[in-house]
Amino acid sequence: MATDTISFARGAPSADILPHEAVREAASRALESDWERALSYGTGRGHLGLCEWIADLHGVEPDRVMVTNGSMEGAALLFRHYVGSGDRVLVEQPTYDRTLLLLNQAGAEIAPAALESDGVEVAAVESAAQVGPLKLAHIIPNFHNPAGCTLAAEKRERLVALADEHGFLLFEDDPYRLISFEGPAGTTMLDMDAAGRVIHASSFSKTVSPGVRVGYLVGPPDEIAALAKRAGENYISPNMLAESIVWELCRSGELDRNIEAVNTALRGRRDALVAALEEKIPEARFVVPAGGYFLWLDLNDDVDAAALLDAAKEEGVTFVAGPDFMIDGGESSIRLSFAPVPADRVPEGVQRIATALEKLRARTGSAA
Ligand SMILES: Cc1ncc(COP(=O)(O)O)c(C=O)c1O
Repeated sequence: MATDTISFARGAPSADILPHEAVREAASRALESDWERALSYGTGRGHLGLCEWIADLHGVEPDRVMVTNGSMEGAALLFRHYVGSGDRVLVEQPTYDRTLLLLNQAGAEIAPAALESDGVEVAAVESAAQVGPLKLAHIIPNFHNPAGCTLAAEKRERLVALADEHGFLLFEDDPYRLISFEGPAGTTMLDMDAAGRVIHASSFSKTVSPGVRVGYLVGPPDEIAALAKRAGENYISPNMLAESIVWELCRSGELDRNIEAVNTALRGRRDALVAALEEKIPEARFVVPAGGYFLWLDLNDDVDAAALLDAAKEEGVTFVAGPDFMIDGGESSIRLSFAPVPADRVPEGVQRIATALEKLRARTGSAA
């Protein structure tokens, strides 16, 4: 692989947009005003000050919140707690690859539902629930990883109603909500839920940095109490120092300032990517993401994404091939993450993919 490889592969921002000064100062303040709690064991629920701040953000009581070491740990806890071998779990197609990994580890029977440009096909969820009992449905509502799409408001309402009607848990996996480029994201399914069927997960990975490993779950108080008990049994408490620092960032207003700066940078990267794709790979079909990190590209059927990735690496560019996010299919699709690539590098990165595509076709003898 070329030494100056441009990577559209990782779902993580480049270091230049990580708030290292703000975090350094918040750490210093946290160790002045909150040091005893920051340096002690907590409970499975995590830092109670941060729980209260999150509860306020979502307009719920603090006993409905627990903080975890990243939202991925929240998902892992939830799956371990609720999903037994053979339980049916609905996932979107495509979906986050680590979700598939965790559900496979839990022995879940996967029920796939296709994504449309405005989120999951609700009729597919309904028919999956009619075929047999669903234990849980995993939905990424905003700026989807990997698909880039956002779930329409009326679909959110339908899903919440279906969860109530069929008695399944709706797992709203929403780490990108605040990484929104065109105004505030829509109402959460958590807010729409009167029946206690929604567990909402979010994270400070995208609004502060992935390395802080602070995420959270919000749900019905008895479910959260059960999950917090399990967390305590597994690891006593999550990282209290990291949570104290994040709490300080939240209270001081630094979090809001950082979200604004990150969104400005990411919007520029998204715009550069969309413009470069339109110019250099006109066959590419995609939903323009209104936030988040990802753009999902469908190429013509003759393209094998895995072979394209090999060819792309030779040109000095990487991405993730579609099948990584699918149970079946995705062979002619790729996921591009614009978070790690500064806007001025994006055209060159896309040009390299276009060159790889051309060379691949020349080698395999297929035409566009
Ligand atoms: C849909 C989705 N859920 C969960 C996560 C995990 O985030 P965290 O860093 O909070 O564990 C990610 C991270 O990329 C994600 O895209």
